[in-house]
Amino acid sequence: MTTNWYKEAVFYELYIRAYKDSSGDGRGDFRGAIEKLDHIKSLGVDCVWVMPHYPSPLLDDGYDISDYLGIHPDFGALDDFKAFLNAAHERGLRVITDLVLNHTSDRHPWFQAARRDKNSPHRDYYVWSDTGTEYADARIIFLDTEPSNWTYDETAGQYFWHRFYRSQPDLNYDNPQVHEEMFRIMRFWLDMGIDGFRADAVPYLYQREGTNCENLPETHQFLQKVRRIMDEEYPDRVLIAEANQWPEDLLPYFGTPEAPDFHVCFHFPIMPRLFMALKKGDKTPIVDILNRTPAIPPGTQWMTFLRNHDELTLEMVTPEEREWMWRQYAPDPRMRLNLGIRRRLAPLLDNDKRKWFLLNALFLSLPGAPILYYGDEIGMSDNIWLPDRHGCRTPMQWDAGQHAGFSDALDTYLPVNRDYEQVNVAAQEADPDSYLNLTRFLIRARQSQPALRAGLLEWVKSGSRELLAFRRHTNGKDGVLCLFNLSDRPQTFTLKRERVDLLARPQMAMGGTITLPPYACHWFRN
Ligand code: NOJ
Repeated sequence: MTTNWYKEAVFYELYIRAYKDSSGDGRGDFRGAIEKLDHIKSLGVDCVWVMPHYPSPLLDDGYDISDYLGIHPDFGALDDFKAFLNAAHERGLRVITDLVLNHTSDRHPWFQAARRDKNSPHRDYYVWSDTGTEYADARIIFLDTEPSNWTYDETAGQYFWHRFYRSQPDLNYDNPQVHEEMFRIMRFWLDMGIDGFRADAVPYLYQREGTNCENLPETHQFLQKVRRIMDEEYPDRVLIAEANQWPEDLLPYFGTPEAPDFHVCFHFPIMPRLFMALKKGDKTPIVDILNRTPAIPPGTQWMTFLRNHDELTLEMVTPEEREWMWRQYAPDPRMRLNLGIRRRLAPLLDNDKRKWFLLNALFLSLPGAPILYYGDEIGMSDNIWLPDRHGCRTPMQWDAGQHAGFSDALDTYLPVNRDYEQVNVAAQEADPDSYLNLTRFLIRARQSQPALRAGLLEWVKSGSRELLAFRRHTNGKDGVLCLFNLSDRPQTFTLKRERVDLLARPQMAMGGTITLPPYACHWFRN
């Protein structure tokens, strides 16, 4: 039986290395994460996305996999993973993992065999060239570090293709053997009982001369095969696409009812516009992008997010908007990385709880399944002085003790943020106005309303650019009117009748002309 559970679920992105160290080596592990599942459950989350947990040299924090069927020794062994999965399931939490289809680590035995021997059956698992001049129209994604998508390999005597770091050679999807390998890997984890995958970097699977090598028809054909396996052999699991693309290019990632691709796609373009609208005090960027977002097939869903483990990506904005976002949100050049901003949610919002509450309430009331990034539920800070994206991947702050209660080791894999004595889970438990309790409150309020979980969105006239107003409803009747004052000036709005505000604590009825102070918001129930 399929339930489409993912359409109304709240997700949580979990970085095992950062969460809780049970072995005393300064790195988080699955046994540690089990101890903290009750925290995740207490937020009102339904499903946990575990970032790559496979053996890896960690040159891209695990997105460079050297063995798809194992567990990174830092995190434990396969039995520890199974124990984590069981413990999550016992609590009614689902678990999805990362499926990295596009590339392996260069330490993967396939690549090692491929580079050493032209006649190895694995040579054709990767994409080679004698000149490194092909596919010149494909952009470089890791702009700050990689000068080209081709790197010459001395051992192989040829160039190999890679869309990310040179330590991540792309697999060759023109080779059907690669498909079979990936199907075997999927079945291995699905047979173990995981609830689905977040599929990494799906637009780039194929290369074709004269194209930008993104979103090619061949890519969709392969992804439809992946989906068919899920539907036929593993019903009720979910397949989520990470495709950082414009709304119209995202639509094909849902496929069609006859030939589906993904159940869920991240909505990348809306994310920077939420930050843009808040900084400008102008709802236009949000309204425009949602108006530009096409309707999606039945049984599918968007995934909305504010932050994740990567830089806040500015790929889906114009160059002028990007410059503006950098000026506003990344005044220090250290805050910039590739085409984005390596900062966490609370510091991006000046640690202003009004803005933090507004942005969370906004993203939790948009159509889509929301996903939270670990640590943002306590307003964790970042460390821009760490390399790459590590500044947003520091240890979770549990209490005011040594290493914020994350580990008993002398040293941790990354330094704990300096603010941990004030910003930690234990300190926030007792305070009803803490980030932690507000997160719980908001998720509970959202999940209590069918209209917010699954309803349509309809714009409501507010009379000003500063005031964003929309209605979510499932059948025209049971609606929620959502109001957000994006600006630092009071706004007024007239309610035609008295209504209960779900965001007031305690819930409270209001009517007539109301004034919204700067950054205030309401969810009015019918
Ligand atoms: C997207 C992931 O989110 C990112 O962390 C990673 O570096 C690239 N894909 C390459 O796998």
